[in-house]
Parts: sequence; C-alpha cells; structure tokens
Amino acid sequence: MGKRNFVREHGRQIGVGLIALFQVCLVALTVIVPSSYVTAHNILHHLNFLPLMFAGMIFGTRGAACAALFAAVINAPVIARHWAEWPMDAKDQIVELSIFSAAGLIAGFLSDRERAQRSKLEKTRQELERVYLELRSSIEQMRKAERLSAAGQLAASLAHEIRNPLASISGAAGILQRGSAPPEYLHESLDILQKESQRLNKLLTNFLNFAKPRVPRLQSTDLNKLLLSVLSLAAHAAHERQVHFEQVSDGEAMEIACDPEQLKQVLLNLLLNAVDASPENSRILIRAVALRQGAKIEVEDAGVGISDEDAARIFDPFFTTKPKGTGLGLAISSMIVAQHGGRLSFDRNTSGGTTFCVELPVQKEASHVE
Ligand SMILES: Nc1ncnc2c1ncn2[C@@H]1O[C@H](COP(=O)(O)OP(=O)(O)OP(=O)(O)O)[C@@H](O)[C@H]1O
Ligand SMILES: [Mg+2]
Repeated sequence: MGKRNFVREHGRQIGVGLIALFQVCLVALTVIVPSSYVTAHNILHHLNFLPLMFAGMIFGTRGAACAALFAAVINAPVIARHWAEWPMDAKDQIVELSIFSAAGLIAGFLSDRERAQRSKLEKTRQELERVYLELRSSIEQMRKAERLSAAGQLAASLAHEIRNPLASISGAAGILQRGSAPPEYLHESLDILQKESQRLNKLLTNFLNFAKPRVPRLQSTDLNKLLLSVLSLAAHAAHERQVHFEQVSDGEAMEIACDPEQLKQVLLNLLLNAVDASPENSRILIRAVALRQGAKIEVEDAGVGISDEDAARIFDPFFTTKPKGTGLGLAISSMIVAQHGGRLSFDRNTSGGTTFCVELPVQKEASHVE
C-alpha cells in the first residue's frame, strides 16, 4: 500500500469513528439528561441531523445509509422507552429521524456524483497529459529525422557538385596521360585541369564556410567605409560587364556593430549576384539607411529578376542557375545575417530587377576597432 493510500485509509477510519462516536454521545446524553428537560431533549434529537449529513457528504450514499441504520439501531431503545410515556412525541422523533436520514442520503448521492465527475476530470487530465507527452516526443523525433535528412541532402548535393568537375579533370588527365593528342588538345586539357580544380577549390571553401560558420566577432564599424571597400572588391566584375555601381547615402557616418569580414562577404555576394543578373550599361544602387533599431543595406539591380519558382529555392545550398556558380553564396549570406540577429530578404523592384535587403539590429556588445 502506498503512503498516500495508507494515510487516506486511516483518515476514513478516523472519520467513521468520529461520526459513530457523535451518534453514540447523542444517545447517551438523551439517556442521562432527565426527561423533564424538554428543550435539551429536543436539541439533542435535532442534532442527529449533523452526523447523518457528514456521513453523506464525506462517505457518499453508502456512508449515509450505514449512518442512518446505525442511528436507527442505537436510537430504537430510547424511542421505545419514550413511546411508553409520550407516543405522539416518539412518532414525531421517528418521522424526523427518517427525514434526517433521507437528507443524508441525498447529500451522499450528490457527493458521489461530484466525486465521479472529479475522477472523470482527473482521468481526462491524465489522458491529455499523456497525449501531450507523446506529441512532444513525436515532434522531437520528426525534428531529428528532418535534421538527418537535411544533412543527407547536403552531402548528396555536395557529391553531385563535385562529380562534374572531377569527371572533367579525369577526362583531361586521361588525354594528357596518353600523350598522343594534338598540341591544341593538350593545351585545352591543361586549361580544363586548371579551371575545374579552381572551381573545386571555390566549392570546398564555400562549403566549409557554410558547414562550419564561425561566430560573428562584433566590432563597431563604419558602414560607409565598409561599403566602399566592398565596392572596390566588386569593381573588376562590374567593369567587365559594363555595369555601374551607385552608392546612395546621406553622407553621414554610420557606425554599426557587426563582424566586418562576414558582412563584407555578404555584401560582396549580393553585389556579384546583382552584376551577374544585370544587363550591360545598367546601374546597381547600394543604399545604406540608419534605422532606430539598427541599419538597413539595400542592393538594387535592374536585372532579369527572379522567377517565382526560383524564388522559393535561392537560399537553398547549391541552388544555382549559373554554369560556374556554387549556389552557396546566398545560403552563407543568410546564415551570417541570421547569426547577427538580422534578416536577409529580397523583392522584385519597379525596374523588373531584384532588391536584396540586409537588416541588422542594434548589437549590445561591440569593441571599437579602427
Ligand atoms: N540579384 C539577383 N537577380 C537574379 N537572380 C539572382 C540574384 N541573386 C541571386 N539570384 C539567383 O539565386 C541563385 C543563387 O545565388 P547564390 O549567390 O546563392 O549562388 P550563385 O551566385 O549561383 O553561386 P556563387 O555565389 O557561388 O557564385 C543564383 O544562381 C541566381 O539564379
Ligand atoms: Mg552568388
């Protein structure tokens, strides 16, 4: 028997004992008190109501019935004695005792019903708790499975991305090994070897960046200076495609807390993407705006735009529409921005091109670095 059950059982026994004792005391007092004390007898008789009600309320219908039976048994000799002297009075006592017993039985019935409802509620609560726990564990399992499948997909995509350059490299190596190919083939094969190994190198560097992102090292940074340095990094690509950068700023210095190297990586990728998408002689606008709760940097191109179908996938690792792209640029960028507590988003703009927007929140801790 558990400790709680033991205490409950003892409590019940004590309750039964007290009620029985109360009833016995009432009968004993009725016998002791002289019959000339009419009011005292009256009160003692009416007090029988209490143990009958308690029995009903505490022990239900069965308790009330037992208490009623007990009251009838122990009161019978007293009422019989009374009958000899005042039969009318004794009859009244029998009727009253019956009414008290009926009241006790009704109280018992109501308390049984309430108890049944309470236990039903308790069962429902336990059932709900069990369902909740099951649900939580299956959500946990689903999350785990999702993570595993994401890791598997990533590995499969990486293998796929590596296979193409590897096939080109082994083809070119085969030609070189045979040594009998015409000189222009040899030259082309060397070219392939160089380009494809560069591509593999870029792919692996980007992948490692993606797979093992480092925690941002926040520094107080002049955003305009940082933009200038990114623009100079992308200048060569823009020049090749005859695309012009235009920096829109209100000339005021803007200090933000960020990891400058990582933010440069994000902005450079956005600029190079914009250059790739832009037609010749078009403009790319770079706009930095200070916000009360942080800063916003927009890169706006007048390029080909992004189709609805591609829009859902551009942040997926390895999604690319470019022959030489790794498709990791935006995946890395959005991760870096998220690690800064910010958001990277994009939208179609009025010239049919795309505007990418980096929103960075105010950071609390940042050391100042010149
Ligand atoms: N400004 C843009 N305009 C139109 N399409 C874009 C733009 N930016 C990104 N995209 C689309 O999103 C794809 C994914 O871009 P992401 O930067 O992740 O990879 P990538 O540029 O293809 O490869 P990498 O960054 O390795 O050179 C691009 O291939 C392109 O189709
Ligand atoms: Mg890119």
